Amino acid sequence: MAPPLIARAARATPLTPLSPPDLRSWLSKQKSRVKSWIAENGFSAKPSEICLIPRQGGGIERVLAGYNPDDAHWAFAALPGTLPPGTYRLDENQRGESAGAGLAAKFALGWELGAYRFTRYSKKKSKPLASLVWPAGVDRAAIRRTVEAIFLVRDLINTPASDMGPVQLAEAAAALAKRFGARCEIIEGDALLARNYPLIHTVGRASAKGPRGSARDRQPRLVDIRWGPEGALKVTLVGKGVCFDSGGLNLKTEAGMKMMKKDMGGAAHVLGLALMIMDAKLDVRLRVLIPAVENSVSAESMRPLDVVKSRKGITVEIGNTDAEGRLILADALTEASREKPAVLLDCATLTGAARVALGPDLPALFCNDESLAADILRVAAQETDPVWRLPLWFPYGDGLESGVADISSISESPYAGAIIAALFLSEFVEKGIPWAHFDIMAWNVTAKPGRPKGGEAMGIRALFALIAERAAAASAKAASPVKAQAKSGHAPTRRLRGKRRRR
Ligand code: BES
Ligand code: MN
Ligand code: ZN
Repeated sequence: MAPPLIARAARATPLTPLSPPDLRSWLSKQKSRVKSWIAENGFSAKPSEICLIPRQGGGIERVLAGYNPDDAHWAFAALPGTLPPGTYRLDENQRGESAGAGLAAKFALGWELGAYRFTRYSKKKSKPLASLVWPAGVDRAAIRRTVEAIFLVRDLINTPASDMGPVQLAEAAAALAKRFGARCEIIEGDALLARNYPLIHTVGRASAKGPRGSARDRQPRLVDIRWGPEGALKVTLVGKGVCFDSGGLNLKTEAGMKMMKKDMGGAAHVLGLALMIMDAKLDVRLRVLIPAVENSVSAESMRPLDVVKSRKGITVEIGNTDAEGRLILADALTEASREKPAVLLDCATLTGAARVALGPDLPALFCNDESLAADILRVAAQETDPVWRLPLWFPYGDGLESGVADISSISESPYAGAIIAALFLSEFVEKGIPWAHFDIMAWNVTAKPGRPKGGEAMGIRALFALIAERAAAASAKAASPVKAQAKSGHAPTRRLRGKRRRR
């Protein structure tokens, strides 16, 4: 793939972004030849509309590209594939009045994202892409790291489960850690039992036991990455790494199982986010926990109504073996809580119910801390990287009552599946830790400009902005001792009611 953004070019075709309100004033300054060409072509600067203006004597004089200023990220994302291959540059002088600061950066990011192709297995030559000269004044490093992170997330998800088992997912995490000088510990197979990660082991133990670390080894593992100075703001990321979710003995249907190579999408998200944090050298103490497993069928599979004592000591009755994500996250969140991070985030392709509620493109946010939730929603809007909050509605937690264990992993009720899964997770997050859980699709069901069908990063630009903001605030506070005395209490986590609280 040729780099779609290039430093400079001897000759580049000017590309003029126009929103519908810009068009009239732009046209008024044009020669009659250009005016009539545009009228004849019916160009009205609608989003994704383009108009090539021919040069007298051959070639393209200029490209007009319609866009909606509220959706600028994706405005030009189709162009690398649809414009005639060649080099283009944003026409800075001609940019309409609606063009605000940061617009060029959004166009550039969209252009890069539109150049993504998953080529690992295909011999088909992809069509050469159009290049854009880096617009003046944009933060190239910021755009590059965002693109790299999103491409990493997409590649990890798109790679079939045959090449992205727990071993390969852990290797991808270890490679990222190594690149940034982070510490990476991986707890494998039966060592998970010795180190007290019973739920991670239970979910993953049925998968293949090839020679350790070989391509045939698909045993469960926990990846634990640490990076940054001890004293900095503690940020912990947890990602669901189910490399394939067959459903286990409660086997999925044909349609339900088909896309389940993407069930490590949460892990891919936190790796992408970690890449951005480490590349930007944010002033944080980062920890990344990834339980990497395959939910398989074998004689060693967990069974419905098995009871497992979790890392936390809470006994869990397995209501349905297809509700595996919450089990592995429970042990990881218990471990994450031990260090009392200042922010605890988890990403997971956790429930079909979240998709029924919000559709594929909107990650569901659950949060136990009002100020964290407000900050996330604000940066998500700012970054046009949307998420939608759903409630941790504690009364529904009654559905997790078990007759034999402290808690059941599922509710018998057919309602509010995403909320109930989030409430289950909340039982393993220690009181007082600001925690946000993202129930994501991690997959584009249909192709849109810049977002091809397949694996997708959802919300990581927003989460990076959130962490950057909180890191900067914490560093400023540390540097100014007066402000450091300001209290920053948060609402205590409420617990579920009922008999399982006796422990
Ligand atoms: N990985 C699935 C959830 C999922 C399915 C996410 C499709 C995105 C698209 C998860 O492990 C699962 O199977 N959840 C079950 C839970 C149920 C058994 C309580 C679900 O959502 O049906
Ligand atoms: Mn499942
Ligand atoms: Zn799953």
